[in-house]
Amino acid sequence: MDKITILSLQQMKEEKKKITMLTAYDFPTAQILDHCGVDMLLVGDSVGNTMLGYENTLPVTMEEMVHHTKAVVKGRKRALVVADMPFMSYQVSVEEAKKNAGRLIKEGGAETVKVEGGENIETVIRAICEIDIPVMGHIGLTPQSIHRMGGYHVQGKEEKQREKLLADALAVERAGAFALVLEVIPVSLAQEITTLLKIPTIGIGAGLHCDGQVLVINDLLGISAEFRPKFIKRYVNLQDIIGKAVKDFISEVKEGKFPEEKHSFK
Ligand code: KIV
Repeated sequence: MDKITILSLQQMKEEKKKITMLTAYDFPTAQILDHCGVDMLLVGDSVGNTMLGYENTLPVTMEEMVHHTKAVVKGRKRALVVADMPFMSYQVSVEEAKKNAGRLIKEGGAETVKVEGGENIETVIRAICEIDIPVMGHIGLTPQSIHRMGGYHVQGKEEKQREKLLADALAVERAGAFALVLEVIPVSLAQEITTLLKIPTIGIGAGLHCDGQVLVINDLLGISAEFRPKFIKRYVNLQDIIGKAVKDFISEVKEGKFPEEKHSFK
């Protein structure tokens, strides 16, 4: 299996081969997903909600992102690793953005970084690309903008919002990004952006026409909390499977059934 690079992703778009991306936050999960052949591993700042128990992604720090990125990088051989730049790591100045993107590459070992925003961060994306760090964009429902959006709602339903998102997509591409995440926008808008852009689009809650799809691994495996938006597909219910295994362990210990002789030393 050839190593995935930003060039292979571009080729996949041109050859109309669908691209897959999943989030990963730790070594064993990265190993499993990479072994299964997923094209990209995203060390998402969703680590805040999924792994660290935060209410949203805003408290996630650079230290936490570097820590989780290191673990994921150790577990993968083929997939391209994308590390999310957390809130306030690229919004203050271009210099800080470059320094923080550099940390995710140099200390974390990621190959690329992801930032949320469009026209408002065009300069930042361009500056990071100019120091040879490939950037993935992210527009639509951008969780770091939760307070501006007033919650996690579908974006781009009204004509004005739709035009703004088209302008954002073009700005991200113009700035040099290698791919763009489209989160929770209408199918027709995602299709229009995907046709308009030369770089691949990766959708989440953006319908079938994107060049690829991304899911949060906890959602796919059924280990996420109760909040389950419409665009999530649970491929398995690990919460129940893990729950049963743990309950079996507890009762076997209480009843003196575990450990058996075969688990013990003479
Ligand atoms: O942090 C994350 O998991 C993400 C995906 C939802 C695209 O940004």
